[in-house]
Amino acid sequence: GGEPLVLGIETSCDETGVALVRGRELLVDTVASSMDDHARYGGIIPEVASRAHLEAMIPTLERTLGTADVDLSEVDAVAVTAGPGLVGPLTIGASAAKALALALDKPLYGVNHVIGHAAVDELVHGAFPDRFLSLVVSGGHSSLLLVDDVATSVTELGSTLDDAAGEAFDKVGRLLGLPYPGGPHIDRLAREGDPTAIRFPRGLTARKDQEKHADDFSFSGLKTAVARWVEARTDAGEEIPVPDVAASFAEAVADVLTAKTIAACHRHEVDTLVVGGGFSANSQLRDMAAARCAEAGIELRIPPIRYCTDNGAMIAALGSAVVRAGVAPSSLDIGVDSSM
Ligand code: KG4
Ligand code: ZN
Repeated sequence: GGEPLVLGIETSCDETGVALVRGRELLVDTVASSMDDHARYGGIIPEVASRAHLEAMIPTLERTLGTADVDLSEVDAVAVTAGPGLVGPLTIGASAAKALALALDKPLYGVNHVIGHAAVDELVHGAFPDRFLSLVVSGGHSSLLLVDDVATSVTELGSTLDDAAGEAFDKVGRLLGLPYPGGPHIDRLAREGDPTAIRFPRGLTARKDQEKHADDFSFSGLKTAVARWVEARTDAGEEIPVPDVAASFAEAVADVLTAKTIAACHRHEVDTLVVGGGFSANSQLRDMAAARCAEAGIELRIPPIRYCTDNGAMIAALGSAVVRAGVAPSSLDIGVDSSM
């Protein structure tokens, strides 16, 4: 009896995450990050990330088991991120998960990283309603998901056609001369600026985009508009009001994300929204989502930041949901899928 104990492994980008979940209860979540190595290069270097995962995997696994005082033999299933993400890093996690499943003679479940960002909220705010929408925003993805069952029935309504929200922040951060990753720096500066100072464009919100791209996002035009605005002032020898640029840019991103997401909630008659991914740390997004959801009568669920950034708990949570739903395990020769 009792709920199955699921070990989750996440290695899709720069975080090595290992966690143990029983049912909807998180026992332990351990994360090792190689971001300090990447910050020096101004971006994630896949080869550096792969090597870091390889070095961190066994210590992170041992630390997780030790903290929970769980013996590997007690694990009922192994879940691992099968995609999307960087091929090298994904392969390290998948290899570790396959080895464990084989050695322990326990089922293996390859799961989707983006859905994991939504699934983790069950560990924090309890069982999901029958139907909800999830906005997953990070440096790698910006997706709007319609979830009928997190384990078996998820539809991607839309995603970004170009940059992810965090990626756009990092690029604008670079052009404002901020350290990588620029997202948190822009957020900090934006709090001192006027979000109405500059009216930057809202991508894919024109009437002509409503039919085909109602649930899609585009941030590259916005990034270009910020670059042009800064360039023009620089050429004219004027000083750049960095806090105002940051605040106005962040306002445009938060406005588009929340407006489109809430419109989709209405269209699909959904009254719960789960926000996940590292970009959900953004203050303007949080404030605007809270205000607009309250106004629209939509329940907003955002896990604490440490569960929004990449971690093993999200994969263990989704693995647990998949096991509970009775989904057949993956075969031991499953591949990874960078664009899953
Ligand atoms: O989920 P995450 O840790 O890694 C990815 O899977 O990408 O997300 C990190 C991304 C980076 O682009 C970072 O700049 C951005 O999210 N970010 C923020 C904030 N905190 C992190 N962007 C804006 N405001 C923040 N407070
Ligand atoms: Zn992620």
